[in-house]
Amino acid sequence: MSTQEHDTTAHSETIRWGVLGAGGIAAEFCTDLQHLPDHHVVAVGARSSGTNTAFADRFNIARRHPSYEELVADPDVDVVYVATPHPQHFDAAMLAIEAGKHVLVEKPFTMNAADSRLLAGAARARGTFLMEAMWTWFLPHIVQIRQLVNSGRIGKIVTVTAEFGEQFGADSPRAFVLEQGGGALLDIGIYPVSFAAMLLGQPTDIIAAADLSRGGVDVTTSIILRHSGGAHAVLNTTMLAGTRNGACITGTLGRIEIEPEFFRPSSFEIIDTATGTRERVSVPHVGGGLRHQANEVGRCLRTGLTESPILPLTKTISIMETIDEIARQIGLHYPQRG
Ligand SMILES: NC(=O)c1ccc[n+]([C@@H]2O[C@H](COP(=O)([O-])OP(=O)(O)OC[C@H]3O[C@@H](n4cnc5c(N)ncnc54)[C@H](OP(=O)(O)O)[C@@H]3O)[C@@H](O)[C@H]2O)c1
Repeated sequence: MSTQEHDTTAHSETIRWGVLGAGGIAAEFCTDLQHLPDHHVVAVGARSSGTNTAFADRFNIARRHPSYEELVADPDVDVVYVATPHPQHFDAAMLAIEAGKHVLVEKPFTMNAADSRLLAGAARARGTFLMEAMWTWFLPHIVQIRQLVNSGRIGKIVTVTAEFGEQFGADSPRAFVLEQGGGALLDIGIYPVSFAAMLLGQPTDIIAAADLSRGGVDVTTSIILRHSGGAHAVLNTTMLAGTRNGACITGTLGRIEIEPEFFRPSSFEIIDTATGTRERVSVPHVGGGLRHQANEVGRCLRTGLTESPILPLTKTISIMETIDEIARQIGLHYPQRG
């Protein structure tokens, strides 16, 4: 993992964000960032000045750029948040890196692992900070769960189960269009895949099955991951129905059951296998939860890190390698894949 130093003096106080792509998740990000007094959205860039103005008015953002090029050239922006649809992540992130900006890129980081490696290489060469916006990893309940697992409380992990199913309809037309990065795997299936990777690392074996739409996107995908040491992850994603969306980590001494939805702010129970006792850990939370990843970006910038030690680029790349193999097995062929 790179810990390349860069100039930290500019980030000693407020972290100044520039939002690239003024859509749905960008609005949620700006809303949640309002809970952080030392983070400000100072600029927004959009493809057209119309959306730009409406978005900027809504969040009281002073600097409104009618193009992404002008946003990344803004000297008052410390870090660019890339919030375009997935097929546009690579070009937008590269644009910001080449302008010397630090960058947070929405999930999925890119359309494939090869593109993730190219972005990582560009950021390392330029000395800029780069991270995937896998916000779930930074949620308070997930931070506590990582600490519990690392402490050995549930013993050695044997299985991880997780699912993300949601009914996508007419309000999500892009989800059904292959050329626009549609499909359950990249949109929501990445959460269970990433969760398993956080706990177990890169799998040695991957088995996946899916149903594809007539247009070639995966509508329901199930995945089994096997890891060295014998741990298994059993994962599911669908965009045809709302599933329970919980997750469970089972170890040799006990298990952790995360209440739905495991990927948003939530609480959990620890079950002791020997005694059967259940301890509920309630984690009160205000807001949507997208700000915790921003806090991690701020922490890294202030300490001169160009990657997050929690979610380094090698981790993001290895998750994209798993996604690539799942996509290969289920016949999910994006035009953006080589
Ligand atoms: N972390 C989460 O919980 C979460 C939730 C939802 C989505 N996401 C991720 O966030 C990304 C954006 O999703 P979203 O739901 O916010 O999408 P959205 O509402 O459609 O917004 C995307 C924005 O990107 C810009 N854009 C640039 N090129 C585009 C193109 N070719 N087609 C459409 N828009 C384009 C547009 O902004 P301008 O016109 O202003 O440039 C648009 O408003 C996706 O990669 C998705 O996976 C994350």
